[in-house]
Amino acid sequence: MRKMIAAGNWKMNKTNSEAVEIVSKLNELIADVKGVEVIIAPPFTALSDVVKVAGKVKIAAQNMHWEEKGAFTGEISPIMLKNLGVEYVILGHSERRAYFGETNELINKKIKSALAHDLKAIFCVGEKLEDRERGNTENVVEDHIKGGLEGITKEEMMANVIIGYEPVWAIGTGKTATPEQAEEVHAFVRKLLTEMYDAEVAGNTTILYGGSVKPANSKALFSKENIDGGLVGGASLKADDFSIIVRNAL
Ligand code: 13P
Repeated sequence: MRKMIAAGNWKMNKTNSEAVEIVSKLNELIADVKGVEVIIAPPFTALSDVVKVAGKVKIAAQNMHWEEKGAFTGEISPIMLKNLGVEYVILGHSERRAYFGETNELINKKIKSALAHDLKAIFCVGEKLEDRERGNTENVVEDHIKGGLEGITKEEMMANVIIGYEPVWAIGTGKTATPEQAEEVHAFVRKLLTEMYDAEVAGNTTILYGGSVKPANSKALFSKENIDGGLVGGASLKADDFSIIVRNAL
């Protein structure tokens, strides 16, 4: 069966020392939690120290380059992440798509590279407000999923890919998708995975919801059949708040 996961994406927030402090505290707060995998994605600059205090918190990077090394100024490679003990990498986040021009093709290269280097991918998809208003949500999500997962095998999907559905209009806006709106898209993604792979892959893939997840709304979201936890931005920056979200995924 698929795992329940609560993942925190810190984006460009927290210094190294702040990150170490929060992850240490979070680790204490969730010491007794079983049955939910907890992931934190701090900035690159904090990864090295945070993995040392992570305890049961798994650590993710927020991005990576697909090449192992070379003349790519400012970039971080999969072998650098692996060497630090990082387990996951977020790929295809809408902020990467919107501000850094990441396309499906490029995201697909990154996912393939992550899997080839034994990193688990948290692959993000989601529509913009105008897509939703035009009734294009499913088309956009299908385009992201098919583009990003091109050439990814069933075995790779089963072992190492998590999907994050993050409607762009709900990210950082305080406007959460209702549990029903989110569930509808999650069910669509699962149907798509059945068509692209099979029922086993669809049933085993963890699909996280992201977009203004808070302690107060997380329980209702996570109780939906096809929502297997959350990918949380703002509310993951405080250990107390995030630990409530973790418990709501139980
Ligand atoms: P917020 O929870 O701040 O809306 O961010 C969601 C997100 O983008 C997580 O990747």
